[in-house]
Amino acid sequence: MSLINTKEMLEKAYEGKYAVGAFNVNNMEIVQGITKACKDLNSPVILQVSAGARKYASHTYLMKLVEAAVEETPVPIALHLDHGDSFELCKSCIDGGFTSVMIDGSSLDYEDNVELTKKVVDYAHPRNVTVEAELGRLAGIEDEVHVTEDSASYTDPGQVEDFVTRTGVDSLAIAIGTSHGAYKFKPGQKPQLRFDILQEVEARLPKFPIVLHGASSVVPKFVEMINENGGKMPDAVGIPEEMLKKASQMAVCKINIDSDLRLAMTGTIRAYLNENPSHFDPRQYLKAAREAIYEVVAHKIKNVLGSAGKA
Ligand code: G3H
Ligand code: 13P
Ligand code: ZN
Repeated sequence: MSLINTKEMLEKAYEGKYAVGAFNVNNMEIVQGITKACKDLNSPVILQVSAGARKYASHTYLMKLVEAAVEETPVPIALHLDHGDSFELCKSCIDGGFTSVMIDGSSLDYEDNVELTKKVVDYAHPRNVTVEAELGRLAGIEDEVHVTEDSASYTDPGQVEDFVTRTGVDSLAIAIGTSHGAYKFKPGQKPQLRFDILQEVEARLPKFPIVLHGASSVVPKFVEMINENGGKMPDAVGIPEEMLKKASQMAVCKINIDSDLRLAMTGTIRAYLNENPSHFDPRQYLKAAREAIYEVVAHKIKNVLGSAGKA
């Protein structure tokens, strides 16, 4: 098999009322943990790379890791740029072998977002690369950019038809109350998503794939593991899994998960080193971390995404 774009993958997810997991990758163990789970559960998957990941590991290393995974994993796999913030970054990823890119113009004025997104679509489509864009603004942290709750805003469903028609984009990320990072709701605050906005977007864009960013559930087991082993993450809280499951049965066809992988990896390594203070072979704790990544991804496929057996 070779890398594919997200077109057919997301169309099938829409028809089948499930979502494809889009997991952020930064190193070999993360790539291996994710793709082994997808192989065992026969699930399609999107591996996504942020600008920060590309800076950390380099385009070439990430490309080669993903190529190795494709060779060993007989399921549909797309390689996607997460939160591309410029035409140049998207172009560089398209020219370098990515099969899908996100151009995130959500911080721009509406007309500037339309213009930038269309420019990326015009470059991507002749090269068989799909494009995701964003309308509305999520709170939280992306790379070093911190979007405060005040400057975050829900997607205006009144804009979506115009945006999709004028840009020709393949999928659309919307803001309905999810946010990036491990602190999505304040202590005592009841987690809520604006399903009414999702429903209205769905009615205005029939059969069009919607994307949810900031969709980690901040798995309590791993937060506890971090806190019990010298970490300090009080009040870390995510999106309840039933809400994500409900969204995946609606128009949401791609669900982005990064924080849950980070928490699993960090918690597991902290616990491993605490329990085995004399160990100093990185293969030992990285193996445990890779198994934790596998566990999280398998759990999401079975209990949130519904993508098992859909490869
Ligand atoms: O939405 C952002 C993703 O979690 C990627 O995070 O930019 O720190 O790699 P990063
Ligand atoms: P989380 O921080 O909720 O994992 O969101 C990840 C994301 O949206 C990547 O684009
Ligand atoms: Zn995101």
